[in-house]
Amino acid sequence: MDLLLKNIGLLATPTGIDARRGKAQGEITLRSHAAVGIHKGRIVFVDHTNNSAVAEHTLDCAGKLVTPGLVDCHTHLVFGGWRQHEMKQKFAGVPYLEILKAGGGILNTVKATRSASEEDLFQKAQTLLREMLYYGTTTCEAKSGYGLELETELKQLRVIRRLNKAGPVELAATFMGAHAIPEEYASDREGYINLVCEEILPRAARENLAEFCDVFCDEGVFTPEESARVLKRASDLGLGLKAHADEISPVEGAEMAAECGCISAEHLIAASDAGIMAMAEKNVIAALLPATSFWLGKPYARACEMIRKNVPVAVATDFNPGSCPCLNLQFAMSLACLKYRLTPAEALTSVTLNGAAAIRRAESLGSVEPGKQADLIIWDAPDLDYIFYRCGSNLAQTIIKKGDIICRN
Ligand code: NIG
Ligand code: FE
Repeated sequence: MDLLLKNIGLLATPTGIDARRGKAQGEITLRSHAAVGIHKGRIVFVDHTNNSAVAEHTLDCAGKLVTPGLVDCHTHLVFGGWRQHEMKQKFAGVPYLEILKAGGGILNTVKATRSASEEDLFQKAQTLLREMLYYGTTTCEAKSGYGLELETELKQLRVIRRLNKAGPVELAATFMGAHAIPEEYASDREGYINLVCEEILPRAARENLAEFCDVFCDEGVFTPEESARVLKRASDLGLGLKAHADEISPVEGAEMAAECGCISAEHLIAASDAGIMAMAEKNVIAALLPATSFWLGKPYARACEMIRKNVPVAVATDFNPGSCPCLNLQFAMSLACLKYRLTPAEALTSVTLNGAAAIRRAESLGSVEPGKQADLIIWDAPDLDYIFYRCGSNLAQTIIKKGDIICRN
């Protein structure tokens, strides 16, 4: 055995290889005085700490809390520039969509991303990813969508692939060409959707650059019909489906996501009752983004109601330069408790097993069980409640990925 974690005060983890929903989302395993054995990057046993296993290396957890590594299942990690100058407009009450219509917002970042070199984008994203790791994110999804043209969309996706290869944080790549209509297609939306469906998506799929496809289905962006067209094409090309849905207005994006067979629907601040029902029926994961609500001063998605209605809930950062410049998943976890009113157990599941399920990694990630990949965090905390209670501090102390210690804070 390569590594033995002993003297774990409390091991807190969901269990299983699928998203947990309804009551099960809050039913986690809590084990005091535990030990975890790791061999060749995998967990080989979870046992009492006083077992006599012999390992090459032993890590004394000093009675602290251990959980699975955090999975941030929704980020826009790769982009050029920042947008701090838009804060003034935002705080003066100019709505997000109006900033976008005036060529700002996403389109601002599109300009900066088009003009950045692949190397610059890589260096910048790698620095940001290191910061995410420092807060405990061991796996993260990352989207394109700041190119809105063939070359730049592929450039973003190549950066994601390089980051994943470079490690240690593992990435899942999502193509999001349908993030906005670029300025050059302002009077020809159908032309842009054709370009996405007939040129960019097939190239991204052919070059194996994306595992998932996401669309921004909302007021002023893509209609449910347009979104469904892009997703159908992506599905034919073998990609898994996701949708930013009903963030701004209830446009029946959640219904569309369920109808199209999406793995997850994101945001959902304005999702209707019927949309939530449809998601429960089709077992679509709700990827909720409380730090975006916080940053934009918007209402919070109805997370508890979704759990009651049997929708599996994941929580992510939505890290991006416009609506959530915060990449700290621990902050989103605290908001999930303080604002959504999830229990600490429900919130833990939302950023581990359910986050992993939202990127189809629940068979190997998201829980501390024999057979799973050894991604774990030792927290500077005596119990699970404590990490939600100490909002604003970074309590991730030792971070382990595939059995290697990759960060000590
Ligand atoms: O998830 N809502 C759509 N897209 C991003 C915002 C992107 C941006 O403003 O740059 C989001 O919040
Ligand atoms: Fe997003």
